[in-house]
Amino acid sequence: MERLRITDDGFTTLYSSEFGQFYHSVRGAMAETQLVYIDLGLLAKAQEIKEINVLEIGFGTGLNALVSVLEAQKHDLKLHYTTLEPFPISNDDVQLLNYQDELHTQILKNLHEAKWEEEVEINSNFYLTKIKTTLQNFSSNKLFDVVYYDAFAPSSQPELWTEETFAKVASVMQKGGFLTTYCSKTVVRKAMQAAGFIVEKHQGMWGKREVVRAVKG
Ligand SMILES: C[S@@+](CC[C@H](N)C(=O)[O-])C[C@H]1O[C@@H](n2cnc3c(N)ncnc32)[C@H](O)[C@@H]1O
Repeated sequence: MERLRITDDGFTTLYSSEFGQFYHSVRGAMAETQLVYIDLGLLAKAQEIKEINVLEIGFGTGLNALVSVLEAQKHDLKLHYTTLEPFPISNDDVQLLNYQDELHTQILKNLHEAKWEEEVEINSNFYLTKIKTTLQNFSSNKLFDVVYYDAFAPSSQPELWTEETFAKVASVMQKGGFLTTYCSKTVVRKAMQAAGFIVEKHQGMWGKREVVRAVKG
């Protein structure tokens, strides 16, 4: 499989041969980010609060983070954005991505070059903390308002979609916090419910697959 793919909405994605998965939906990388993480997660929470702690599972290409920077500026939010990534992509891979051209920004470079394990001011709306670790090894004193649950699919990483794992995520979330994800498999929704989430299914991209917002009860 090729490393780079142009998805149906013109935004690029990468293929991971280690995990046998693309980093985004090949039907549209930007469409997925916008609906699942921005609209259902970030902007829904921004109806309630303007200073938001976001946790992302899987920094990957940085697309979710980049679009969050732009949305924070647009809506005058203050984001403290923590993202976990045990396997950062290389600088050569970053060069392959077309997000800066498509979104008319130079910020993707800053996100990838930001130091790990410390909070870095990207601009006055966006403070980034990249942590080079797995979700399994992550711990936090901070509670998160929004979680972008963007792990590779259950067929590839089943250990990240269990009741135990969702209970761990719930333990670092505010009551009423939103966890959003592209995966709406029954087994995943049941694991979320068992971990104490109230699970909502929402219309997915292209009127087809459903996506999930889970609210911490
Ligand atoms: C679907 S991709 C994420 C795409 C990313 N959000 C983006 O905007 O490009 C999944 C990411 O999770 C990372 N990952 C793999 N195992 C992980 C683990 N145990 N904990 C946290 N992240 C993990 C992968 O390296 C990959 O970057």
